Amino acid sequence: MLLHRLGSYARSCIRSPNRYYLLCDEVTKCKGQNILIQRPLSSSNNGQFSDMRKFRFYKRVFALTLFSGTLGLAWYLKRQKGIRLKSLLEDCTRLPVEESLFGSDVSLYRFKGYVFAGQLIMSGVLKELPNFQFRPDDIIVASYPKTGTTWLQEIVYMLTHNFKRSDESSEVLETRFPYLEYPYPGIKTVASKPGPRFIKTHLPYSLLPPSFESSNAKLVYITRNPRDTAISYFHFMRLLTPCSFQGTLSDFIRMFLSNTVMYSPFFDHVLEYWNQREVSNVLFITYEDLKRHPISVIQKVAKFLEIEASDADIQCIAACTSFDVMSKNPSVNYEHWKDLGFAHKEEGKFMRKGQVGDWKTRLSALEISAFEEWEKRGLSDSDFCFTYDLPDVEEES
Ligand code: PPS
Repeated sequence: MLLHRLGSYARSCIRSPNRYYLLCDEVTKCKGQNILIQRPLSSSNNGQFSDMRKFRFYKRVFALTLFSGTLGLAWYLKRQKGIRLKSLLEDCTRLPVEESLFGSDVSLYRFKGYVFAGQLIMSGVLKELPNFQFRPDDIIVASYPKTGTTWLQEIVYMLTHNFKRSDESSEVLETRFPYLEYPYPGIKTVASKPGPRFIKTHLPYSLLPPSFESSNAKLVYITRNPRDTAISYFHFMRLLTPCSFQGTLSDFIRMFLSNTVMYSPFFDHVLEYWNQREVSNVLFITYEDLKRHPISVIQKVAKFLEIEASDADIQCIAACTSFDVMSKNPSVNYEHWKDLGFAHKEEGKFMRKGQVGDWKTRLSALEISAFEEWEKRGLSDSDFCFTYDLPDVEEES
């Protein structure tokens, strides 16, 4: 209504400009300065001046409404943001982060015992996870980061796609085999994918969507000895632009051993899955076994997924998923992250070394004994043990 009146008044001023000038304030020179004088309304111009009064009145009301509306909206949006943030951070404890160790704005939270990046929590995914529905034809690759996830994903993908190797014409792995809790492509996209779905996750068993247990979806978990995992993780944290880790390997080891890196505590993660190893839709494998006996481990995965594969098929998968072949394959080596600005160009490669026992040349004697102590405590209640080194015998090929 107000806008309508102002509009029609403005239109009438445009139609009769003289009238407009009559209504204008007068500018007078006084001691060389321009002074704005508001003339009292004369009785002869009463009609026009009352129009002017109305105009001024509406103008003020309009300005006031606009101002208070904007203020109100800002307050409302801020309040909504606060409510959303409060609900997202429910059950989360912020962890102290040594800011000087990161080149980017990194925040870490502990949620139900595990460490998550602030970015992941703010995306709201942890709230959405409980409603995610697994289906019986889903195949899940689960792991703690840097333990051979990508390698296992490609093996599973070949097993389920006629043993065909991916190449530069294939979709990249994160599209073919999306990462459940990561903001890209997002849990909603994963949920709406037609089956069979191939899903990667770093979630611990206790935080998997509850639908997993009744779904009959198949899950393969891979783990790796914590010393090589930590070194691989350190390089990865330096590589990724959202982290841009600036500290030394020793700084990172300190964080790793104090269980303050993403998805830690490491042993809880591993042992939660280890304790599920007898469940029929869970398979537990290790990086070191896969490295030493690729044929038998790939056969084991095929059997678990109920896939008939000939010896030649298995040989072909082992050859196509060797470190050398995968590191040259753009659909799995994540080199495109550099073009996307997600990885630093000068910080090495995702497919770094792919070895067992790298720790022997990278850790100091003091760090090795810190690991030994930490591993002893972490595995004290378990019958699981890691392989730290492979004997100098020929690996299967
Ligand atoms: S991630 O980011 O958590 O998904 O990383 P993830 O794939 O779990 O682990 C990356 C490490 O696995 C090595 N890798 C391989 N090793 C041997 N053979 C093959 N085919 C292979 N593919 C990946 C990769 O090089 C990383 O280990 P490091 O020690 O850093 O080289």
